[in-house]
Amino acid sequence: MAELIVALDLASTAEVKKMIELLGNTVDFYKIGLELFSAEGPDVVRAVKAYNKKVFLDLKLHDIPRTVERAVTSGAALGVDLMTIHSVGGRAMIKAAKDAALAAGAHAPKILAVTALTSLDQSDLTDIGVLREMKAQVEAMGLLACSNGADGIVCSPKEVANMRRILGPAALLVTPGVRPAGADVGDQKRVATPGQAVRDGSTHLVVGRPILEAADPRAAALAIAAEMKA
Ligand code: C5P
Repeated sequence: MAELIVALDLASTAEVKKMIELLGNTVDFYKIGLELFSAEGPDVVRAVKAYNKKVFLDLKLHDIPRTVERAVTSGAALGVDLMTIHSVGGRAMIKAAKDAALAAGAHAPKILAVTALTSLDQSDLTDIGVLREMKAQVEAMGLLACSNGADGIVCSPKEVANMRRILGPAALLVTPGVRPAGADVGDQKRVATPGQAVRDGSTHLVVGRPILEAADPRAAALAIAAEMKA
């Protein structure tokens, strides 16, 4: 069954604790991104783990294999459950991330790859020397990542069905940009409802503002969880 991950796009550990306490047993999985991690460091991961919650540490690692390997080792030591790398870091870097995760044994984090940032368009790809169409680039990067040890990819709602077909049944497909039916879409351009994303093959949905900014975050999380099962 697909899992809901709440993006902790908040400014401080104090706000994070408040939100986790408010959501209580409605949410078991939280995403910590670069902004919060840069502000609060590994202590914010420890704070979330102290509630016995799963952590998706979304740092989108892209460096030489040895450095990525060590960063994954550090993440695993913190007890994180999911970590992101960039597939454009290449084969050796992807393998190094996976090897470091596996070395953590029972607490091995799963490794997710970013294929192409959704902030890039075709002309940005041309600028960096990628001459394939965006769709082909996403497919190629997903295959590169998963055939070198990544457990899955981050993918937009519009890519889910195709990437499920291409990567097969075992891949994790983690999908942001999800909005409950009728919700404010904010700055997300390509949105899908939770039910649609799960039917298309998402294993995890990442939701931020529709829960964080709701008048009643707990009710909003419950409604999204219900939509995911529908
Ligand atoms: O508030 P919202 O539900 O849009 O938050 C979605 C989360 O997923 C944010 O943490 C955002 O950075 C992340 N994300 C995204 N779109 C991508 C990649 C990541 O919204 N293409």
